Amino acid sequence: MRRFRTYNEVDHSTESELLEQVLEQRSKLAHRLEAVGTVVAVASGKGGVGKSAVTANLAATLAQKGHRVGVVDADLNGPSLAQMLGVRNASLVDQEDGVVPPRGAAGIPVISMELLQGAQDTPLRWRDPGADTFIWQSTMETTALREFLSDVAWGELDYLLVDVPPGTDKIARLLELVPGLPVALVVTTPSDMSRSVVARSLRMLAEAEVPVVALVANMTEYHCPGCGELHPLFPGDGAQELARTSQIPIWASVPFDPRLARETDSGRPWVLEEPEGQVAGAFLELARQLAATHIVDPSSQEAP
Ligand SMILES: Nc1ncnc2c1ncn2[C@@H]1O[C@H](COP(=O)(O)OP(=O)(O)O)[C@@H](O)[C@H]1O
Ligand SMILES: [Mg+2]
Repeated sequence: MRRFRTYNEVDHSTESELLEQVLEQRSKLAHRLEAVGTVVAVASGKGGVGKSAVTANLAATLAQKGHRVGVVDADLNGPSLAQMLGVRNASLVDQEDGVVPPRGAAGIPVISMELLQGAQDTPLRWRDPGADTFIWQSTMETTALREFLSDVAWGELDYLLVDVPPGTDKIARLLELVPGLPVALVVTTPSDMSRSVVARSLRMLAEAEVPVVALVANMTEYHCPGCGELHPLFPGDGAQELARTSQIPIWASVPFDPRLARETDSGRPWVLEEPEGQVAGAFLELARQLAATHIVDPSSQEAP
């Protein structure tokens, strides 16, 4: 037996408090996002392809170029952005306008479950009601993500990057909260393994009519720290093939560089450490493509 109703089951004709709450939450979120120029989802569908590393390094590149950028770590079970931006042990301050996010590398404000978890190695475990665990868990995840977006005092931002966890259902969840999501960057690697999963995410984004969808090909080549040269990392090129079959452009190709992992995972996005390097060049290109995109807000267009 289910112990609670979903939103769709609520009788909307009555003046239920629940409906009021939902409407209030929606307007609060919409109001908060009004101060944000562009919400950018960094997604994939697949885990381990470098979404979080791409989010951290893209945020650092945008901040270096003078853009106001914030980061939401929507990966509630495998959060990594507070660590990648060097504020894992920061505490959150609650103020009247919302929770003040700590500022990490390059002054980037970030919100992540890592900041709420306390003891570092404690996994997040929702206290579930014993039945309907799946529905209950997705409700909790949506609630947490909504709070990350709307209860944090982001202030005025040019970009708010959202690191979306693996799983196409997680992309759907973000789209429910941000129905007018303007840009999705889809991270993939040249491996065949990621191609079909990523293709499914691309289909979902197309169905949701997200206006700008672009690929970031990560780990395309191996940057050898010894000889300084680039070598192929995977046989074939699944990222190029994906771009061809899906007609989605690749905005940037990021080489595999062990220094990127070492430094970024320790709170120092690599683009800040070696701003003239090949990795930084790829992120500059990604930032340039993003800035050059004219995103038309459908709600601001006049009716013909
Ligand atoms: N281009 C790259 N070169 C070297 N290491 C990378 C690169 N991209 C990601 N990594 C590293 O690979 C690991 C997994 O990446 P991560 O961003 O956590 O993946 P995801 O968020 O997609 O699960 C991390 O240690 C990250 O620093
Ligand atoms: Mg991640």
